[in-house]
Amino acid sequence: MTIKTINGFSKLSKQEKINWLSKTYLSGNTQASNLLSLYWHEDSERQKRHDEFIENALSNFFLPFAVAPNFKIDGRIFAIPMVIEESSVVAAASNAAKFWLERGGFKTEIVSTIKSGQIHLNFPGEAQSLIKFFETHKKQLISSVDELSQSMVKRGGGLIDLTLANQSESLSDYYYIDARFNTADAMGANYINSCLETIAENFGILASDFDSFGPNEQPEVVMSILSNFVPECLVRVTVSCPVSELAQEGLSGKEFAHKFVRAVDIAQTNPLRAVTHNKGIMNGVDAVVLATGNDFRAVEAGVHAYACRDGHYKSLSKAKIDQDHFEFSIELPLALGTVGGLTKLHPMVGVAMSILQEPSAEELMKIVATAGLAQNFAAVRSLVTTGIQKGHMKMHLLNLLSQYNAEESTKIAAVEHFKSNSISARSVAEFVASQQKNDQ
Ligand code: MEV
Repeated sequence: MTIKTINGFSKLSKQEKINWLSKTYLSGNTQASNLLSLYWHEDSERQKRHDEFIENALSNFFLPFAVAPNFKIDGRIFAIPMVIEESSVVAAASNAAKFWLERGGFKTEIVSTIKSGQIHLNFPGEAQSLIKFFETHKKQLISSVDELSQSMVKRGGGLIDLTLANQSESLSDYYYIDARFNTADAMGANYINSCLETIAENFGILASDFDSFGPNEQPEVVMSILSNFVPECLVRVTVSCPVSELAQEGLSGKEFAHKFVRAVDIAQTNPLRAVTHNKGIMNGVDAVVLATGNDFRAVEAGVHAYACRDGHYKSLSKAKIDQDHFEFSIELPLALGTVGGLTKLHPMVGVAMSILQEPSAEELMKIVATAGLAQNFAAVRSLVTTGIQKGHMKMHLLNLLSQYNAEESTKIAAVEHFKSNSISARSVAEFVASQQKNDQ
């Protein structure tokens, strides 16, 4: 039996890692191991840049980089870069962008840009003595990050405040220090975590000298970390138009608007629908977050937590009709950066930022939330009119044709044929087979 574990894997060269993997897990499957090196960039310096992002990099994993043009956001026109594998997403975003371009475009507003982090504490003593300690030393704790904050403060950010929260009724002896930050154009994870760890260290030193704590009552720092729940780092985006301008797919404007609002209300009420509804929003959000080198896991975690801030999971978007006026809006918590992290390291992120005219973090929040609302509009519009599959399968046709090894001429014929025939995996397979038969 082959031994499948290894020591010192990270010390091997890339080729040695691939060889080991091929021998140990791929039964010498040379096709798989050759593919890994086939996907290396021919410029070794460029490849090295990507290899250095993570440990044990073997190769690159391609995803398409696209743009959805014609987005009018607060009067400016954008082509929005998107990185995503799902075939219909960019087409849907582009469609929605064009639709709203002709109806005044997307209007945005930054609600707030505050992020937070917590120092989680164990404290077995009387709450009053911890409160007294905190109040006595709060100023000192805040100024302990002055040096660390110098460049952040120059850019308009920094630590805003510290407060002590008593959670000992929910979990025995549990308290935390809540730290609120503004991180300017940075996502700020490293800055926030460094500040928290510095404050925690000073907290420990000051606490060990504080007389009011009894001998077995020293507060203990359990951990210090930023929160990806950012309900105060919030952006709002709205589209609106007279109901009469919404007529489509055999529905009057009024019929469409009512059906659309009903669909969004269902997602406000029923979590079964809300999760899928919000997934449609995240199709747009994640694609732009990825293209701009931001942390999509942080965004995903924060957005879904926000979707259940009232105790039940619900839609992130809202729709209403007010005196024959249709309004559709979204509120999203988005911790994004346009400096730091991957933003200056990944060359394609540089391209995305240039396409977006070098946005500030606030501008990027507006753009990302717009992509989410556009995507949501496109999905719900399809759902309440033609159904989702028609457009989805149209975009998926080329994937199916590639899957059945269709020649270029067959692909061209198929695109023509399926303009008037319904697309399914089976109908495409049959079409390809019939073309191959004709060619014999
Ligand atoms: C598919 O990726 C996304 C949708 O399911 C979203 C929705 O149902 O609103 C179409």
